Amino acid sequence: MKFKLIFPTLLLFHTVGFNMSNGVNEMETKIDLLLKKMSLQDKIGQMSQRNGADWNYNGVKAGKIGSILNEVDPKKIKKLQKLATEESPHGIPLLIARDVIHGFRTIFPIPLGLAATWNTELIEKGAHISAVEAASIGINWTFGPMMDISRDPRWGRIAESFGEDHYLTSQMAVAMIKGFQSDDLTKPDAIAACAKHFVGYGAGEGGRDYNTAYIPEQLLREVYLKPFRAGVEVGVETFMAGFHDVNGIPSSANTYYLREILRDEWAWNGLIVSDYNAINEMIVHGYCVDGKDAAQKALIAGIDMEMASGDYENYLEDLVETRELDINLINEAVRNILRLKFKLGLFENPIVNADQFPKMVNEDYLKMAKQTAIQSVVMLKNEKNTLPLSKNIKNIAVIGPLADDPFEQLGTWTFDKNIEDTQTPMDALNEVYGNDLNIHYSKGLATSRSTDDTYFKEAIQAAEKSEVVLFFAGEEAIITGEAHSRANINLPGAQEELIERLSETGKPIVLIVMAGRPLTMGNILDKIDAILYSFHPGTMGGPAIVDLLFGNESPSGKLPVTFPKVVGQIPMYYNNKNTGRPPNKDNFVHIDDIPVRAWQTSLGNETHYIDAGYKPQFPFGFGLSYTKFSYSNLTLSDSVIRMGEDITISAVIKNTGHAEAVEVVQLYTRDLVASITPPVKELKRFKRIQLKPGESKTVQFTLNTGDLAFYNQEMELVTEPGTFHIWIAPDSDNGLQGKFEVKK
Ligand code: GLC
Repeated sequence: MKFKLIFPTLLLFHTVGFNMSNGVNEMETKIDLLLKKMSLQDKIGQMSQRNGADWNYNGVKAGKIGSILNEVDPKKIKKLQKLATEESPHGIPLLIARDVIHGFRTIFPIPLGLAATWNTELIEKGAHISAVEAASIGINWTFGPMMDISRDPRWGRIAESFGEDHYLTSQMAVAMIKGFQSDDLTKPDAIAACAKHFVGYGAGEGGRDYNTAYIPEQLLREVYLKPFRAGVEVGVETFMAGFHDVNGIPSSANTYYLREILRDEWAWNGLIVSDYNAINEMIVHGYCVDGKDAAQKALIAGIDMEMASGDYENYLEDLVETRELDINLINEAVRNILRLKFKLGLFENPIVNADQFPKMVNEDYLKMAKQTAIQSVVMLKNEKNTLPLSKNIKNIAVIGPLADDPFEQLGTWTFDKNIEDTQTPMDALNEVYGNDLNIHYSKGLATSRSTDDTYFKEAIQAAEKSEVVLFFAGEEAIITGEAHSRANINLPGAQEELIERLSETGKPIVLIVMAGRPLTMGNILDKIDAILYSFHPGTMGGPAIVDLLFGNESPSGKLPVTFPKVVGQIPMYYNNKNTGRPPNKDNFVHIDDIPVRAWQTSLGNETHYIDAGYKPQFPFGFGLSYTKFSYSNLTLSDSVIRMGEDITISAVIKNTGHAEAVEVVQLYTRDLVASITPPVKELKRFKRIQLKPGESKTVQFTLNTGDLAFYNQEMELVTEPGTFHIWIAPDSDNGLQGKFEVKK
């Protein structure tokens, strides 16, 4: 069908003329000139992203496809780009996309583990390595970082998140975006990053994936939007909407979020892609009557490119022809898509030369992956100095389904791994200590979900021959990640039973957990002498864990998420509101201590569970090391500051133990009184410091009154005068407390 020019040529002249007269950058002019030449069908073609190559060559050649996802055969990618640039109507190159979430071929710890490093420099370096490996085969767009705040460990995708805190998440997301996009997007090893899933995907009811979220505006702005805003400020090139509906509106049609906040308020002009089939799923949501309705609502809301489903391809032309959609919405979407292709330099260099790139999984990359894995491990317990293991130890029992599993230790979202690259704990133990140590190995259970106790006897025998038991427990990768939420987050299968049986041998037990979420370990905690929580540590998880076990490295990880005692406590997070009846250890009466027929009264009762109390198992920010750190000399530059002024807070941190180690020093604040009930604590800064035994360092943080701002009832970002508490702390539950006043 010949496309009738709805708008007078004047508009086109105006558009081009405006750019020409204004000298607006050359790229916009190129986009205008290209748009002018494109038919409506050509434009709609750019707005479609298709999955894989095999059945899309003709579509690419016809200019009906703007992007391909999930194709990783370099030859096919090269063929696709040649078709697009040499044979399609306007020679527009393709965006080649892939979920490079925590590594491409070299796999780093899952993002929840990356967050546990609290080391932004390291995260940026790892993301750059991932970008280099992905770019070397022709990928130029990753669907990461995921920056959804998650306060619910039942949610499978908490594995892919940076945890519960918006400040830590923002810092981690910015680091990853910088690592992916480099300082110049035209560099061959730079790939476009993607802020996802906009917004509030982690707030789904009950931690059930894809589920409904209700987020009031103040909470949206105070918590969920902040990492995405940080992504915009650092220059993230793309956004992805989510599957879920927020306050009754599916993310793919949320004009308020996508246009009013992201494009207008934040003045961001990047590319917005839907999630996989999510536009069409608005029919299932009961929000759209059919694909045509879905296409119309998604484009009006601001989705530039449709992933996988074909509603844009099938209905946009008709919607424009019947004047149900303004052609300018299409022009704007295509402009955003073309802009990214120009920014990536794809018109000049659509095809990569793999020879330009370093070998994948090279020694440097493995070293970085190991260093990251080491720093991602959180030591949660270490009774009787069970760890580090003595170098003179002769017999150790290595037991558990994750002690030697090169696949499972990589975790979720690792499509492009080679499991042969993985070094498991057993690999590392054999390699480093094989000659000196008698390693008595028994898997104990075939998988993390196995309930078959056939190998229990073998495992117990291994323990009986040993001085210490290393039990590698946790979750297989597939019971974490997308679509894999769990209602019970204990160790799955018969792992608890096996631990129980092993504890009867009387041998000290070191639990090393590989998991995609916080697990509730209350049933076995008292049977364990030490715990290293390694999340899913990636390719070099084995050597990293073994270095930590034997004290070649000291654990330095800190929890990016609260660990509840029992699943019934969820949601439980550190920056909660105080309520009018905050819990108090002096008034708490456990269910077992309530007298029979006690007099019913609500006085003195506070917010808690009578059977699970009000404390988590392990608090946000918590993590032990092989030394002790003392905090002293808390000093504030002022006790009163005026609006707009800075305040400096410092403390002396001393290594009072016998091992060199890293401490992540955290700064928290609390606004005591505000026009919106304030959280009891908020992380504002953190800093990693390395201290030798006996060494002290003064750690100093500076805050401006602007850092104390919150969204008031009118949704204005304001700092109100009043009293603030601050803590310089090792975690969210402890620390040196001070206070200061803010005056007008
Ligand atoms: C998935 C995920 C999204 C991912 C996309 C492409 O379903 O929700 O995060 O980037 O589809 O794989």
